Amino acid sequence: MKPRVLKLFAQLDPKPEAIVIANSIDPHLDQTFFYLFDVPAGLFEGSIAIAHPDGELDVFSSPLEAETAHEAAKRDPHVAVHVAGRDETAAAARKLLGASTDLALNFRELTHEWFLRLDGSFPGAKWTDCSNAIRKARVTKDANEIELLRRASEIGSKVGREIPGMLRAGISELELAAEMEHQMGLHGASGRSFATIVAFGPHSAEPHYAPADTKLKAGDSIVCDFGAYYHRYASDITRSFHFGRRDDEMKQVHETVQKAQHAALGAVRPGVPSKEVHLAAAQVIDASPWKGRLTHGVGHSIGLVVHDGWAYGPTAEDPLEVGMAITVEPGIYLPGHGGVRIEDDIVVTKNGYEFLTTAPREYVEVPA
Ligand code: GLY
Ligand code: MN
Ligand code: MN
Repeated sequence: MKPRVLKLFAQLDPKPEAIVIANSIDPHLDQTFFYLFDVPAGLFEGSIAIAHPDGELDVFSSPLEAETAHEAAKRDPHVAVHVAGRDETAAAARKLLGASTDLALNFRELTHEWFLRLDGSFPGAKWTDCSNAIRKARVTKDANEIELLRRASEIGSKVGREIPGMLRAGISELELAAEMEHQMGLHGASGRSFATIVAFGPHSAEPHYAPADTKLKAGDSIVCDFGAYYHRYASDITRSFHFGRRDDEMKQVHETVQKAQHAALGAVRPGVPSKEVHLAAAQVIDASPWKGRLTHGVGHSIGLVVHDGWAYGPTAEDPLEVGMAITVEPGIYLPGHGGVRIEDDIVVTKNGYEFLTTAPREYVEVPA
């Protein structure tokens, strides 16, 4: 996509003669390939995208997705598709680039194996790292990306509303995760955007817990952190529930997390150092009986992956910019007892922010 190629080159000074983005084998696919080449489906293992300073893009597609690649190129006059097998790709790219030696790579995503192959095919090449430029270009989203994120977030929100109806005594964390993922698929997701977190009881105090066979019982707090892929774009939402009668402490914990999120959202506007968003949430939590129990940064960017290259915490100076799509996800975690996290996806706007996710966030005791 020409505007995205130009946006990426605009971050580079001096500018390389070309940017080479190379996919290895799933899951070692560089999502920048799909940022530049707008193709809604397909793995494109071993494929390369070569971006030029004038905005043009050459794609060396694996033969396995040749038709999809050609279809996508028909929709974009600035993309030329060439089909090449895995062993021919580097040499074909070399031929296309002629005598160019000043080339940029995404050091953060390129596998070493791919680098050696490229280096062997480009004698005398001077490789530079453009991963920071990629992060900066991708961190603000264009209208098309925001629309896809909105759709991905709507799927997450629908499932967020459905979770109370899925809760029953004896269901396991893994079973609930499976039901949530099934529902995301029925609502139009092409997959889950990361391994679903479902945590019952004391497990809910571990932010990145992995679901297991633990069965739900009355009195458990529940953290569900999940997201959908829609046309390659990822949502990320967390909702916390309480099954049956919970102690008053967890009700207050929930309400404090909600207040913390509200405070964090109140700090969101362009130009604000992103740490201010974190600190607004931390201040609410640290003024409560659960001081220090926010144990992670309050958010990160979302996009073609759920952790889309940028995150913010108490020391993050990067200012918020219009078009950033980020999560705001404070939590309070009480080891051995339980936890609450509330996570929403938002997009930064001229005057503040818009929600992408919308499911209710309030304290709910689902009847056991
Ligand atoms: N889904 C992991 C996170 O919220 O960062
Ligand atoms: Mn999450
Ligand atoms: Mn998140």
